[in-house]
Order: sequence, then structure tokens, then C-alpha cells
Amino acid sequence: MATSNANTKPRDTWGSKLGFVMAAAGSAVGLGNIWKFPYTAGESGGGAFVAIYLIFVIFIGFSVMLTEFAVGRKTGLSAVGAFKSTDRRWTFVGVIGVISGLLIMGFYPVVGGWSLAYIQKIATGLLDTPEAIGGSFGAFISDPVQPLLWMALYLVLNIVIVIKGISGGIEKAGKILMPLLFIILIIVSIRGLMLPGSIEGLKFLFNPDFSKVDSSVILAALGQAFFSLSLGMGCMITYGSYLKKKENLVQTTAMVTAMDTSVAILAGVAMFPAMFAFGMEPTAGPGLVFGVVPQLFAEMGGMVGLLLALLFFVGLSVAALTSSVSLLEVVVSYLIDEKGMKRTTAVLLSAVVMALLCIIASLSLGGVGPTLFDVGAFDIFDLLTDKIFLAVGGMLVCIFAGWRLNREDLKKEITNDGDVSFPLFNLWYNLVKYVIPFAIAIVAIAGVKGGFDAGKGEIMVLGLVMIAVTALFSKKL
Ligand code: TRP
Repeated sequence: MATSNANTKPRDTWGSKLGFVMAAAGSAVGLGNIWKFPYTAGESGGGAFVAIYLIFVIFIGFSVMLTEFAVGRKTGLSAVGAFKSTDRRWTFVGVIGVISGLLIMGFYPVVGGWSLAYIQKIATGLLDTPEAIGGSFGAFISDPVQPLLWMALYLVLNIVIVIKGISGGIEKAGKILMPLLFIILIIVSIRGLMLPGSIEGLKFLFNPDFSKVDSSVILAALGQAFFSLSLGMGCMITYGSYLKKKENLVQTTAMVTAMDTSVAILAGVAMFPAMFAFGMEPTAGPGLVFGVVPQLFAEMGGMVGLLLALLFFVGLSVAALTSSVSLLEVVVSYLIDEKGMKRTTAVLLSAVVMALLCIIASLSLGGVGPTLFDVGAFDIFDLLTDKIFLAVGGMLVCIFAGWRLNREDLKKEITNDGDVSFPLFNLWYNLVKYVIPFAIAIVAIAGVKGGFDAGKGEIMVLGLVMIAVTALFSKKL
């Protein structure tokens, strides 16, 4: 992405429309699709979760993304500035986004590190003993040292990319590797579906059993939609601020949403049939992709299996990088634009905080380190962002657009002064102004209530308190 120079110079814009779509898709498609989606679907009962997730993507995700693009392009500013320039009282919504970015970066690089580690593990013979693959993951992530080194390497890659402003380079890598990853996912899916007993996996994924749905499943689906589409923290506002006035926002939103969602669904199709065939539990948790994919390629055997497994984790690592760079960029551009820091200082300062958070997050998986209400750091950061910050952030963006911005201005922005036809404008506007804020409020309140049964309610309430405190002190931000 181009570097932010806020108000002084005319803003750099994306070279081509496809360039923008690919960059926004690069932010959206990441660990959320390939690591988080399958295991969350597995833990949340499968089909019903997937159905609710898809409904949220279409009705809430699409609308919120369009809103974020419109707000970003209209103001030409990144997350915090976009709100601040319109109305200082709304600054806190941008700041909540910055906090979300920090917290997500408090665990994302841990998982990014696992992905890098698996490249090395596969290159050095992981596939030779297929029976040991499942167990080795647990041993690896609970090791106190190894995952930290890989996390550090992953974070350093982010730092270098964001300091040098060479995200252009990484986007180029993404343009090749992401389609490749997509193809590999298709190959994995086909291989998986050829295994005996695999059809049960498809049934699990697409045959909804709504009796399994409770408030926490619904909140999980909402959180997954926001996380996967990079919404609710100003990331897409920042991206939108670089978008040319003549680009079609509606079409762009549709393309990014469709790409992101198809990767997630494909990842599910790649994972579950094989899992059922291998007799693994769908509730395997965060280790799912690291157990299933190597095992599948191990059974495939030979050089081809090895090569595809390597490419899979290289592709996953690059997909993760293009996402985490966008997260880091939100925090960094806040420090540059609002706090007057130099780019290098801003990147290093954010990275130090992220590294500290990641260290506690990583250690918590081995049962080491502080807990809060019996929940470890990794889960705390995940819960706070995925279940609370992003959804509330998305709700606030909608309230901002619906109630603070002017309807006609929004219409002009989205239709490029009438050049682009958007027959569903009224539907979108009413969704954003009334339905989505209301729906998110209900899902969040019910989800927090339900969270208490799972021992997670306290952390979610803490998230709400953090948001309230941020709002109270917004004048100082
Ligand atoms: N969407 C990315 C993924 O699926 C993660 C991500 C990048 C993100 N930027 C974000 C999540 C902004 C929430 C908000 O891996």
C-alpha cells in the first residue's frame, strides 16, 4: 500500500482497479479464512454455523465493508483521522480500531510463526511419519522457546515490510501465491473427497442442524465474518482512503467479499472431508489446519505431496503476511498522523508492544503466564477482538454513517455522483442505519450472556468496559 501523507499532499492512489481489489483481498484473505474459519466451524457445530456466517457476510459484512470504503474515500484519511475530521466526538471509534489492531497483532504473529515453522518442519521430514503429525503440533505450540523464535521471525518480516513501505513487493508475491494457494486448496479438497468416509465431512459442513445453535454460536459467526473480512477496525477505511474517485465501490466490495468467502468455504471443504476420513474430531481447535493438511499430503506421498505441502504453508504464510501488514499499518498510521511520529519509530514502537503481547500469548498455550478469570492471554486477545471489539466497532461505523453523515453525501460517494447505478442504495442505507446496529447489539448482548456459561463472559464484559473507557477519554486522544 502507498504510504500515508495525510493532509499535505494529494493522496497516492491505487494504480489499477485490480490492484486495489487484490490489496483489499490480501488484507481480508489470511489466517482468518484458512486457520480460524475451519476450526471455529468445527467447534461451533458445523453446518448451522456456516449458514449463519454466510447470512452475516451477505447482509452485514458486505454493507459494513461498503460503508468503510465510502467513509475512507470520502474523507481521504486513515481510521482515526476519518472520524476525527468529521466530528471529534467520534475519534474514539478510530482509536478502538487501533486498540483492536494491537490486540489482534498480540496473537496473529504467533499463528503466522507456526505457519513459517511448518515450512521448515515439512522440509525436514515431518511427512515421513504421518502417525506423529497430529501429536507433534501440540508439543510444538506448548514448547516455551521454539514458537517464540518463529513468531519473532514473522514479526520481523512485518516490520521490514512496513518500514520499507515495500508492501508493493509483498502484494506482488501475493498476486502469485494467493491464486496458487487457492489451487492447492482445490487439490487438497479433491484429495480429501476421494478418501473413504469423507462425505460425512461435507454433511457436517453444509447440512445445518439448527438445534445446535445458541447465542454463542451466533456471536462466533458474527465475529468470524468481521475478522475474515477485515472489518470493524478501520482497516478498510484506510484502504478506501487510497481509492480513486472513479472506482466503483459497490463492485469492489462485492469482489472482495466474494473472494474472501470463497477461500473460507474452500478451506472448509479442504479440511472436513479429510478429517472425517482420518477419524479426527471436528473440535480439534486451533491445531486443525496444522494437523489435517500435512497428514493429507503425507498420505499422498512422494515428491508431489512434499512439494504441495511446502507450497501450501508458503502460500499460507504470505496470505497471513498481507493481512498482518494491514493490521500493523492501521496502528502505525495512527502514530504517524495523530502523534507525529516518524515512520520507523512508529513501526518499532508498535512492534515492541505487539512482541510483548505475542510472547504472553504464545506462552499461555503451554500453560505458562498470567491468566484472567482463568483464561490465558492467547484466548483473551482473541475473545476481546473477535467477539467484542470488531463487532462493536462495526456497529459504531454504521451508526456514524447512518446518523452522523448525510444521506445524500453517502449516495454521491457510493454512486460516484450518480455515474454508478446502485439500485439497492435504500436497502443498504436502511440496513446500515437501523438494522445492523440493532442486530449487532442483540447478538453481542446475547453472546456475552451466553459467554458466562463458557467462562468467557467476564472477558467480554471487560472488552465492553474498555470500549466505554476509550469513549469517555476520547477528547484526549
Ligand atoms: N482478515 C484477516 C484474516 O482473515 C485478518 C485481518 C487483517 C483483520 N486486517 C484486519 C481482521 C482488520 C480484523 C480487522 O486473516
